[in-house]
Amino acid sequence: MARILLVISGGIAAYKTLELVRRLRERGHETPAILTEAATRFVTPLSVGALSNQPVLTDLFDLDREREIGHIRLARAADLVLVAPATADIIARMAVGRADDLATAALLATGAPILVAPAMNPHMWAHPATARNVAQLRADGVRFVGPERGEMAERGEAGLGRLAAPEAILDAIEMHLSRDDRLAGRHVVVTSGPTHEAIDPVRYIANRSSGRQGHAIAAAAARAGARVTLVSGPVTIPTPPGVTLHAVESARDMLAAVEAAMPADIAVMAAAVADWHVEAAAQKLKKTASGPPALTLSENPDILATISRSAARPRLVVGFAAETENVIEHARAKLARKGCDWILANDVSTGVFGEADNSVHLITADAVEDWPRLSKEEVGHRLVTRLAEALSDETR
Ligand code: CTP
Repeated sequence: MARILLVISGGIAAYKTLELVRRLRERGHETPAILTEAATRFVTPLSVGALSNQPVLTDLFDLDREREIGHIRLARAADLVLVAPATADIIARMAVGRADDLATAALLATGAPILVAPAMNPHMWAHPATARNVAQLRADGVRFVGPERGEMAERGEAGLGRLAAPEAILDAIEMHLSRDDRLAGRHVVVTSGPTHEAIDPVRYIANRSSGRQGHAIAAAAARAGARVTLVSGPVTIPTPPGVTLHAVESARDMLAAVEAAMPADIAVMAAAVADWHVEAAAQKLKKTASGPPALTLSENPDILATISRSAARPRLVVGFAAETENVIEHARAKLARKGCDWILANDVSTGVFGEADNSVHLITADAVEDWPRLSKEEVGHRLVTRLAEALSDETR
């Protein structure tokens, strides 16, 4: 049972959250709620409270109830905050950190994970301002479910903007809440993010990796009860809860941190490690009349191959392969070359860097599993399920 603080903002889809409240209560969750002023035009606090049998707060200021319940206390006591439906307006206010009503004040005050289920007109969802706000919130660690494609309330309008189906929202909630012990007692080391290879004290070579996939895997392993060491290059996303971070810059630092983290039961190498480094100049390189400096590149250590072949090899070593063509074939060759157990082959021909979704195939020595297009969180969750199964088969 969990305490899910429900924030309802003012959209036509607000009536659908009544069904959600009923379903969450059926599952034994408590759902205190905060309605924005606009939300109260679509659903009444009374109907939400009657279904949840929990406190409902609104901005129709009630000093006694506020003193008694307190929106900050509700925010602090929640295991998860669900914003459903989330309008373009509340998303914008969240993105800039406003606290101009009870709902946004609670969203700022909470330390719990926040799950947002947007619902709005497709043009509003597609607007660059909304896209920018959503990207900002994602970077802040806020999770999204939906919107889905479908008919809108406005006649004849269809597109991306409909509130996710109750089942999808319930699944997302369970995924974010679920803490289990499938990997209890296991140590999982995950690499994530890009590496930065210094050219001189102010310049470096890097790549476009956001770290989102590696971080999502670390988060999923922690939720499954593992002790997780996340060795990450420079990223702008938050460290998942319950994970120990070792922040590194270069591939050589990353290898040293991974080796220092051993022994481990599982290693997942999701970092986009630079293949080469430069012998960094001790002082900033200056422009000279003789033209640009020549950079001499040297090979970086291959962390995945090194760990796969080391004496301290974890029982399961998983690598990634970014491919634009012949995905399976190339990944198979990589599996053999690097000596790892599995490869998650990523089809990057459609562009996944910094995206929310990922298209992967799980390649083992003798099989290929095609996974549907999933969010990076779901890829993490699925991988953890497969890892837990594999380790329990082994110990049986
Ligand atoms: N990797 C690593 N150390 C490196 C390079 C890569 O640990 N120095 C790991 C990555 O974390 C990833 C896998 O190896 O798990 C990717 O291998 P890589 O050879 O870099 O493959 P691609 O990025 O797919 O590139 P290419 O096809 O050019 O080999």
